[in-house]
Amino acid sequence: MRVVKGGSREEWADYVAEMLIARLQVRPALRLCLPTGLTPVPIYERVAAAVAAGRASFRETEVFLLDEFGGVEPDDPGRCDQMLRRFLLANVNLPDARFHRFRLDGDIEAECRAYEQAIGAGCDLTLLGLGGNGHIGMNEPGALPDSLTRRVDLAPETTAASARYFAHDRLPTWGVTMGMATIMRSEEIWLLAAGARKAGIVQRTVREDVSPSLPASLLRSHPTTLLIVDDDAGREI
Ligand code: PGA
Repeated sequence: MRVVKGGSREEWADYVAEMLIARLQVRPALRLCLPTGLTPVPIYERVAAAVAAGRASFRETEVFLLDEFGGVEPDDPGRCDQMLRRFLLANVNLPDARFHRFRLDGDIEAECRAYEQAIGAGCDLTLLGLGGNGHIGMNEPGALPDSLTRRVDLAPETTAASARYFAHDRLPTWGVTMGMATIMRSEEIWLLAAGARKAGIVQRTVREDVSPSLPASLLRSHPTTLLIVDDDAGREI
């Protein structure tokens, strides 16, 4: 895992956004896995501005949503697909048919199998946030390296942290997520962290033993993962 220190939060967001814009320019049919959470929001704003300015396009791109909360209404603004639409997809020219997301009102196991099939040999590029407990997507501590897209229980701290997305107190206790193996099939992975509250978990991700007890550490076995931190998130490494 190569560590890139991206400077201030603004510089970090500029850096990641420009790298993503460059990838879209070189490979317009990019197969891209995208996360939600607060970390990528400033990056998505910059990429949407680049699309509006004609510097990049999603017309041929395929987007796979990393994970989704279970047990919430399909139109809840706190759902991951709703957040990705709001922060990015509503502002770029991705055809809706190429936005892959989870429908959780039917057979969830079949939905997960279909998702794996759609991903196939892997995404070209996967962007990831970093959970305070080291989770990746909803792969909580204990998630195995060979895990595939599946239903998972959320760690209590992940349920509690989801309160920032929901305008009510019926917080999700489960979700579906691409597995660690699904993510590791990606040709490139960018693990993103910004802000002082991530400094401790960034340090653990880089320094602790590679172990399922810290899912982010598993990415160190991937040949091209970049950990891209701003000054605050990277201050302990
Ligand atoms: P955040 O969440 O981007 O809001 O910090 C990251 C995560 O929990 O995966």
